[in-house]
Amino acid sequence: MLRSNSFRQKRALCQLRSFSSLLKSHAYINGKWVEAGNKDMFNVINPANGNVVGIVPNMDVNDAVRAVSAAKKALNNSEWHSFTAKDRSDLLKKWFYLIKQNADEISSIMTTESGKPISEARGEVTYGNAFLEWFAEQARRIYGEVIPSPIKNREIVVLKQPLGVAALITPWNFPLAMITRKTGAALAAGCTIVMKPAEDTPLTALALVKLAEEAGFPDGVVNIITTNKAAPIGDYFCKSLDVNGISFTGSTEVGKLLFRNSSGGIKRISLELGGNAPFIVFKSANLENAVEAAVSCKFRNCGQTCISANRFFLQHEIHDEFIELFKQRVAALKVGDGSKPGVQIGPLINTTQFNKVCTYVEDARLKCAKVILGGKALNELGELFYSPTIITNVPSSAKLYTEEIFGPVASIIKFKTEPEVIKAANDTRRGLAGYFFSEDIQQVFRVAKLLELGMVGVNEGLISAAEAPFGGVKESGIGREGCHHGIDEYVEVKYICFGNLKY
Ligand code: SIN
Repeated sequence: MLRSNSFRQKRALCQLRSFSSLLKSHAYINGKWVEAGNKDMFNVINPANGNVVGIVPNMDVNDAVRAVSAAKKALNNSEWHSFTAKDRSDLLKKWFYLIKQNADEISSIMTTESGKPISEARGEVTYGNAFLEWFAEQARRIYGEVIPSPIKNREIVVLKQPLGVAALITPWNFPLAMITRKTGAALAAGCTIVMKPAEDTPLTALALVKLAEEAGFPDGVVNIITTNKAAPIGDYFCKSLDVNGISFTGSTEVGKLLFRNSSGGIKRISLELGGNAPFIVFKSANLENAVEAAVSCKFRNCGQTCISANRFFLQHEIHDEFIELFKQRVAALKVGDGSKPGVQIGPLINTTQFNKVCTYVEDARLKCAKVILGGKALNELGELFYSPTIITNVPSSAKLYTEEIFGPVASIIKFKTEPEVIKAANDTRRGLAGYFFSEDIQQVFRVAKLLELGMVGVNEGLISAAEAPFGGVKESGIGREGCHHGIDEYVEVKYICFGNLKY
């Protein structure tokens, strides 16, 4: 229903004109802004009002082949090949500064296509751009090793060399940060890249590429293709011998498919998938801090964050007091079009996501959970708005408990003892992030170690930073992004044995 019609196409063209040169309607392959080979296009929709805000190429596998060939050629091309680590660092820094200069414009584009409140979009530009700054610095520190040899007249030397062509598949929830987190690391390592952003948010990605072009990356080093038919392209990335590695952020289901399909060529794959984050509040917690953190952790980006708190476990002694404070804070959140001042909660990204939220809340209601705030669509605001919701007594059989909601719904569960809550928190195949609040130092170390997660926030609800390793355990992923570990996904470790040395 939200998709194309000619009226919206016309409005899109007006919008395109009213925006700047950063709003692109072409993809970018081998240093050129290009259409899809088949000339097909698709509309980009503002989820706040259903308006078309851009039109981009609807590419297919042939275009992906073009992009990968360009990336492969650039990899072996003497220009990029001859770049020193310092040269790559300088280019990344240039890109970083261009994004910084254009932060307002990028934020507007992001809010328009993702629905994210403008204050959050600005925050994401700063957060996401920090990955480029960080990896610009890391580019110069991709050190090899000389390891003492056990055998006379031999040396063991270890080099880290670029992995090759990296295919980067990114989601709609962080249209900028998920791109810079991958591209920064890949380019710092000396790889060439083909990006495939989510169909809901290609405009931010194209704006970034426009600035990468201005920064001066050689032709073919940075490529981007846009499409709303992702599956065959993902499959091609998995099977093509010209693609050396894939990095994907998105759903666990798609991650598993990519993992399976990449097995034929034993391809390097890095996956940042869904979570089911516990947020535990123990009786010793500073409740004000815990409530503040709960609001930002749960409702950031309308709850559409892989590391959003998904299950709130409250110890019975503080259960009622926490809920009282939490309810007051959540009820005060301002919902609306993210481009309007003061709005804190925007729409859900699309109908699929909206329907999922409605279905999960109904499922919990049917299983005797109690909706104490919200629990309804806000049709008066638009088709994709859902009220910030708190549900108590959520049973372990509810979808809200077993699955990641990815929406503005806080599910609350009461617990009595520490072993009981650790067992419940770990009782999932997901293991991305989790949070707990406690002022008991013994408990802090114990619980932090016992939680089966890649990332743990202790008395903290916002944990992301370019300097920290982002990633999950179990079915939440493979590999780490950001931090110095982020580079490891994009390098091959080569051992060189020097023999018969005359000393
Ligand atoms: C995500 O949702 O996966 C990204 C969240 C973040 O980087 O903070």
